[in-house]
Amino acid sequence: SPPAIIAPSILSADFAALGEACSTTMSQGADWLHVDIMDGHFVPNLTFGAPVVSKIRTHVDRPKTAAGRGTFDCHMMIAEPHRWAATFRDAGCDLYCFHYEAAVTSVAATDPADKTTTRPTSPKELIRYIHELGMQAGIAIKPETSVDVLWEILETDVAEERPDMVLVMTVHPGFGGQKFMASELPKVTALRQKYPELNIEVDGGLGESTIDQAADAGANVIVAGSAVFGAKDPAHVIQVLREAVEK
Ligand code: DX5
Ligand code: ZN
Repeated sequence: SPPAIIAPSILSADFAALGEACSTTMSQGADWLHVDIMDGHFVPNLTFGAPVVSKIRTHVDRPKTAAGRGTFDCHMMIAEPHRWAATFRDAGCDLYCFHYEAAVTSVAATDPADKTTTRPTSPKELIRYIHELGMQAGIAIKPETSVDVLWEILETDVAEERPDMVLVMTVHPGFGGQKFMASELPKVTALRQKYPELNIEVDGGLGESTIDQAADAGANVIVAGSAVFGAKDPAHVIQVLREAVEK
């Protein structure tokens, strides 16, 4: 597998002191920041938008290389992800991870008379557009979505249309602190078997008691919200997560 990447989810941080929470978690050993964007529509919860991302960006150094330390991994739990890609790029997003389910739905909802916005007509075109904006592209699937929808997208020979990361949700997206769904791990195993070098992210319910299963399945990008921000010793938790992936 590719190197371990630990990405604390700031959903569980103190929103009234977010800048400091971000710089602290980086100093405690985090590689990336996982930034959960929810629109109250694609998921039944609201978080924050691009103005907050651009403010917290000033507290964390930009990555020096693609997927390097300090990457803002924006998990876009929003409808019509293409509409917001340029805005989040400008705010400091490095990796724009959209939901497969939202990309497919927003294509169907596209108004052909409206020529004002770039409107990708497939996940592949959305990935190409995200790359054109200068970001890495990730594609996420909910628990109810089969991993089989990803094969065609991953099998492309066109580099611009290839995702840089796949996110397998291990909870129903929308809230932190939910129970880990081990039922999703066969998706990770199947992806890792076919793609030894792909960044495979897991998100939801990860912590000291669930990391071994996820790591054994082949996940290398580990999101943890409540397990990191709720810990007495977050640096220790980050270290435990990293060692489980690297062992
Ligand atoms: C849930 C979010 C997660 C969330 C994970 O919809 O996508 O990133 O913050 O929280 P924990 O780690 O507490 O399950
Ligand atoms: Zn997330």
